Amino acid sequence: MKQKLEEIRARAREELGSVSELSELENFRVRVLGKKGELTGILKSMGGLSAEERPKMGQLANEVRQNIEKMLADKIEELKAREVQREIESMPVFDISVPMDTAQGSYHPITLVQRQCEAVFKSMGFAVEEYSEIVTDYECFEALNIPKDHPARDMQDTYYLENGQLLKSHTSAAQNAIYKKYRDALVNEGKPIKAIFPGRCFRNEATDACHENTFFQMEGVMVDKNISISNLIYFMKTMLSEVFQKDIQVRLRPGFFPFVEPGFELDISCLICGGEGCASCKHSGWLELCPCGMIHPEVLKAGGIDPEEYTGFAFGLGLTRLAMMKYGVKDIRDLNSGSLKALSQFTEDE
Ligand code: PHE
Repeated sequence: MKQKLEEIRARAREELGSVSELSELENFRVRVLGKKGELTGILKSMGGLSAEERPKMGQLANEVRQNIEKMLADKIEELKAREVQREIESMPVFDISVPMDTAQGSYHPITLVQRQCEAVFKSMGFAVEEYSEIVTDYECFEALNIPKDHPARDMQDTYYLENGQLLKSHTSAAQNAIYKKYRDALVNEGKPIKAIFPGRCFRNEATDACHENTFFQMEGVMVDKNISISNLIYFMKTMLSEVFQKDIQVRLRPGFFPFVEPGFELDISCLICGGEGCASCKHSGWLELCPCGMIHPEVLKAGGIDPEEYTGFAFGLGLTRLAMMKYGVKDIRDLNSGSLKALSQFTEDE
């Protein structure tokens, strides 16, 4: 009997060692310690022992039972801990120490006007293109008819990288790539090039209420046979009246940009002061919103388009300016301030 008890203990230890699921342990318990279990069976058969042996075996049997119960309890604990660990590991990682923010987020005012403009131009058949913020000197200047050492470069001093590339000083830097991308469809299939490309631009500027070193523009180009200034005026007016939801006053002044000929400045009346003059409009009553013009023949040529056959217009809409106008932002620096107090006023329609 002693041997049997020892056997049961040894087997129990071995079996428990290999169990890896909690559910298997209940079976084990019933089979070994249950009313009809192995150990109970042995205890029941003790009646046949001599009076001398009975207490000894009784003691041993109790010891074995306690041993097995302890092993079982340890195993249960071990498997439970493992299960908890597994659950923790499968949980997404997040930082529970971050305080809960109950304030609702909102889109940045520039994002809002950008989306409105995109929607209007898309509805007029323009493709929306994205372009890199780091560009080459060729893309930003040379392909736009601004050779090295040309004085026009002074208007757009920007940030140069060590490898000779630069942070784009205007969205026009994408023009060359756009012409090359759509040229085949224009020439072979007669599809006009109609694209807008919003983007962040950089200039080495002294900042004040209306100048920032980082700002947003939205370039637009259209190239086809017989495109003229009236097409440009039509698209600009449609877009602006959609964005402002009313007829706004505009004026065209001659403007010089080496990549357009003729070139213009499209101004809108200052919506902050109503035209009387304030810091945002440099006390002129007008806000320079959108330089534009007919694409220079050299620029079309650089894009692989024959200027004898095709003409086009280009505009560089100041998205930052537009956002200031639309939302009555008096100081351009508020827009890049990251101040939630300033920015959260502009929750709109989205
Ligand atoms: N890229 C010019 C600027 O930022 C604006 C412009 C775009 C002018 C397109 C004419 C045509 O100053």
